[in-house]
Amino acid sequence: MACIYVPWLLLTQILLQVAKHEAKVPAIIVFGDSSVDSGNNNQISTPLKSNFKPYGRDFAGGQPTGRFSNGRVPPDLISEAFGLKPSVPAYLDPKFGISDFVTGVCFASAGTGYDNATSDVLNVIPLWKEVEYYKEYQSKLRAYVGHHKARKILTEALYLISLGTNDFLENYYTIPRRQAQFTVQQYQDFLVELAENFLREIYSLGVRKISLTGVPPMGCLPLERATNFMNNHDCVEEYNNVAVEFNGKLNNMVAKLNQELPGYKILFTAKVYQFFYQIIRSPSSYGFDVAEVACCSTGTFEMSYLCNEDNPFTCTDASKYIFWDAFHPTDKTNQLIANILIPDLLKLFN
Ligand SMILES: *[C@@H]1O[C@H](CO)[C@@H](O)[C@H](O)[C@H]1NC(C)=O
Repeated sequence: MACIYVPWLLLTQILLQVAKHEAKVPAIIVFGDSSVDSGNNNQISTPLKSNFKPYGRDFAGGQPTGRFSNGRVPPDLISEAFGLKPSVPAYLDPKFGISDFVTGVCFASAGTGYDNATSDVLNVIPLWKEVEYYKEYQSKLRAYVGHHKARKILTEALYLISLGTNDFLENYYTIPRRQAQFTVQQYQDFLVELAENFLREIYSLGVRKISLTGVPPMGCLPLERATNFMNNHDCVEEYNNVAVEFNGKLNNMVAKLNQELPGYKILFTAKVYQFFYQIIRSPSSYGFDVAEVACCSTGTFEMSYLCNEDNPFTCTDASKYIFWDAFHPTDKTNQLIANILIPDLLKLFN
């Protein structure tokens, strides 16, 4: 009769295997700006949009989604690497609902920053409002899967946070108000304080696992290079120095919070900045032909509505370019950057 037990033994083993492989990260949840927005700006009244061609031409189905790229943004690739959906839906997109958001949701808004004054510039979603939407999501999730399961999803989820560039480029260096109030070092400290308050607030809401990305070598964005006449359109060194300084301050603040708040695991890595800078300085090593200008149109200043289908100059193969529009990376660059982060994220959080 022993043979009767064999299937049960087998089944038990299979179930144990399945349980072992059950994802430790059940959802990817995103806060931030255009580096990670998957379409929230489509639903609000701002001139900063990208839900038209040629945006999205290399996205699944060739459809523009509101991502500021020809393809995907890093959270999509990270979600896929964790065995979840290949793209993270935008919270405000009416095509999606709470059943989609169980495994991932994006609250990011292109053009926003840590500073309320930054989101005011182009009338986009301020960071505090992203948190309000997150709270609303928490209650919808509880109603949908029950309190117990919702709590598990919300604490085990990996939260991706990426913003800060707009605070400097769209706000501090463009609108006089903050410059009259702060030196750039003081402004960095102000932003780090806002970032700290934000991280403490979401901790109190149950968030535990975070990947926080600092700012990129923002002096090398084509828009900034285009106006750097003095230095033959090279990267604006001052902006890159500010980025490195700001990232260093964020890093120190994160180390403090990791120490102070039990169970908080925030990963901040300088690798993303370094890697991004490296591909800009030696594009051909990574299969790129062009680093200075973007694929879309003349590649010097066009983004959002200025990057559209009527531009005759838009490149045909975006994978040869580091930048898609004057401010945002191509799908290929986003893939390479995600690949730098993914091994660390899997090791630390899965
Ligand atoms: C940003 O605006 C929100 C909403 O008005 C407010 O609650 C918050 O205190 C502001 N933050 C700062 C640092 O002023």
